[in-house]
Amino acid sequence: MKALKISMQFLLVLAVLFLNVQCKGKAENEGTKQTEIANKEPKDSLAISQEDFGKLPTGESIQKYTMTNANGMVVSVINYGGIITNLKVPDKNGKIEDVVLGFDSLEGYLTPAPYFGAIIGRYGNRIAQGKFNLDGTQYTLAQNDGQNHLHGGNKGFDKVVWEITKITNLHSIALQLHYLSEDMEEGYPGNLSTTVTYTLTNDNTLKVSYKATTDKKTIVNLTQHTYFNLSGDFSKDILEHEIAINADTFLPVDETLIPTGEFKAVAGTPFDFKQAKAIGKQINEDNQQLKRGLGYDHCWVLNRVSEDLSLAATAYDPKSGRFMEVKTTEPGIQFYSGNFLDGTLKSKSGGTYAKRSGFCLETQHYPDSPNQEDFPSVVLNPDQTYRSETTFKFSVK
Ligand code: GLA
Repeated sequence: MKALKISMQFLLVLAVLFLNVQCKGKAENEGTKQTEIANKEPKDSLAISQEDFGKLPTGESIQKYTMTNANGMVVSVINYGGIITNLKVPDKNGKIEDVVLGFDSLEGYLTPAPYFGAIIGRYGNRIAQGKFNLDGTQYTLAQNDGQNHLHGGNKGFDKVVWEITKITNLHSIALQLHYLSEDMEEGYPGNLSTTVTYTLTNDNTLKVSYKATTDKKTIVNLTQHTYFNLSGDFSKDILEHEIAINADTFLPVDETLIPTGEFKAVAGTPFDFKQAKAIGKQINEDNQQLKRGLGYDHCWVLNRVSEDLSLAATAYDPKSGRFMEVKTTEPGIQFYSGNFLDGTLKSKSGGTYAKRSGFCLETQHYPDSPNQEDFPSVVLNPDQTYRSETTFKFSVK
């Protein structure tokens, strides 16, 4: 009897302990959720601030959100175009400088600008003749790049106002941007609900996550068009930056920069970046593809082992020691060496943005995929969710 009483008591204690743990677990989960929604004070010296960044001609107010981490890394984003206006990281001596091209005021972004820092959609890169077919229906898009469609058209995602939510997690901060692109906006079918999240962590990584859903079959290819100059000095060109691209092949283009459909081996060509080399090393070689791109403006076919985040490219500025590592879930990366910059746009530091004063590494599906059967599909169906992720990690060497 006594033994039974003791074991009953023991079971009771166990039950109380179990319930306690359950409740605690639940409370902790709720706590995490609440932190996100309530935008509580950031932890680990991570902080988000907000300031006015001017008004659009429509009177709409544009805000600039600045995320700062414990190392003083700064990422500023505006709700116009989801543009990254500033990205500041330390050099090898700890000097924190801005390493992305852009403007000090909203006006700069409202005059024709080459997509500095912007989110690109619905289709990053070119679509031949601005035409594509889905289930027998032909869709016609703006021909805003000669005869081709480029970067989503006349008013792509780089020129729309995004709704921004500040998010504070335990070890990271984020800006979640949302935009609903209506059915047939810029000629694309389906209401596309798009979310792009910029997350900053204390290991100096900026993560860009994309998510989209549609109510009608459509095509999607989102990317980020930041121009980097890791020297922090916009009066210098980027030709001494050393780039590596994890790709055995690239996509040669025709005279209008549409892929010919060939997957060409990089070996033995100026397009071989399997080992890091200076951008300027072979950029002026007598090569038909370099002539067509006026330098590098091509998509490399990434060597991927899975559809998880994998190494796409690295960039290194020997003088400042700044090193950037790009990982992505995407199958391609457009490496653009800033060939169209021509010294007419005023830089943040007072000078102008000269030819090749910045470079882009735009992770994406291949250009003109809707018209090229051998390229991975960019079709999004109503029962699917488009997801894509790219990380930019900064360090020094
Ligand atoms: C992309 C294109 C380039 C150019 C820039 C913007 O990188 O591939 O050809 O249009 O955008 O100037």
